[in-house]
Amino acid sequence: MFKRLKDVHNISDFRSLAKQRLPGPIFHYIDGAADDEVTYRRNTAAYDDVDLVPNVLAGVEDIDLSTTVMGQKLSMPLFLSPTALQRLFHHDGEMAVARAAEKFNTMFGVSSLGTVSVEKIGQEIKTPKMFQLYYHKDKGLTNSMIERSKAANFDALALTVDTIVGGNRERDLHTGFTTPPKLSLKSLVSFATHPAWAFNYFTHEAYELSQLKDYVKEGTNISIKIGDYFTKMIDQSMTWKDAEEVNKNWGRAFVLKGIMSVEDAKRAVDIGASAIMVSNHGGRQLDGSRSPFDQLAEICDAVGDKIDVICDGGITRGTHILKALSVGAKACSGGRLYLYALAAAGQGGVERALTILHEELLRDMKLMGCKSINDLHRGNLRFR
Ligand code: LAC
Repeated sequence: MFKRLKDVHNISDFRSLAKQRLPGPIFHYIDGAADDEVTYRRNTAAYDDVDLVPNVLAGVEDIDLSTTVMGQKLSMPLFLSPTALQRLFHHDGEMAVARAAEKFNTMFGVSSLGTVSVEKIGQEIKTPKMFQLYYHKDKGLTNSMIERSKAANFDALALTVDTIVGGNRERDLHTGFTTPPKLSLKSLVSFATHPAWAFNYFTHEAYELSQLKDYVKEGTNISIKIGDYFTKMIDQSMTWKDAEEVNKNWGRAFVLKGIMSVEDAKRAVDIGASAIMVSNHGGRQLDGSRSPFDQLAEICDAVGDKIDVICDGGITRGTHILKALSVGAKACSGGRLYLYALAAAGQGGVERALTILHEELLRDMKLMGCKSINDLHRGNLRFR
């Protein structure tokens, strides 16, 4: 059992700590994925099918990990993907994540289903910021989120395109997870057995979905399953024309999150997107779909010189990032890798997770004989 932050040495340790601290339904919401979770497991396993081939005697005392994505210079080639409901995991939620990202000069995302308002984030946080947009049927709501994040000085907008219906998250069906949590006998038992979490949840500012609450009751006043939220609220008629329109209305760096095919990557270029996040939503949507890392080479070959390609998914190690960059990604991003840490220890936890991954990146770059991430290329890799 992990009790202290200093005893945590990797993302898997943070997962164990999060499991210990969170009521079961909340832990399984973060940790779970769709159907049989085959894609979820493959997202990480894919990195093991490729080996790094190091060079030596390269004079590696100074390493430059910086990269520029979506026009933003980041001090490391990893940023924090937007994720929902963060104040359920730790009472500081998005503020903790944002402050940790700021310390590392990297980017972080705030979700349409975020629990801190874009205005508060915009006022307090200076590091590059991404707003993640769910394209709701309610166009007043969709447009209000675009305008609000623009006014709050967000740098990039990521339109999520892989949640047109809710994924089949069977762990959530088993546990009865909803947002906000329903007060049933079962959930009260899980709160009572996690008193530190329950104390913090019930004694801090009331939980809300800050970008949505003035438009919809679901998620803040009415408990709903996340899968049902997507199916009920997201506009299933969304097309490329709508994505192009959102890009025009936004007018800054525009990202499509959840692109997996070469055809779609090319269309993203055609509509003027600045970046694509190659992602299957952490295996939470279409189980049996390919992992981002497996799909990365063909996408980079097709559009890597025209658009920033981000590898989003399955990352738990610095070497995973080096492998994705060697294939051709400009940067990587991840959700669970910092959510476990947030749940385990708030801002300090997220900082520790970033410290661990930053140290791994520095050490692995030195062991690879690479001084800057531009030194990484496919010649460094052998596919088994
Ligand atoms: C999820 C959404 C909310 O995967 O991003 O649960």
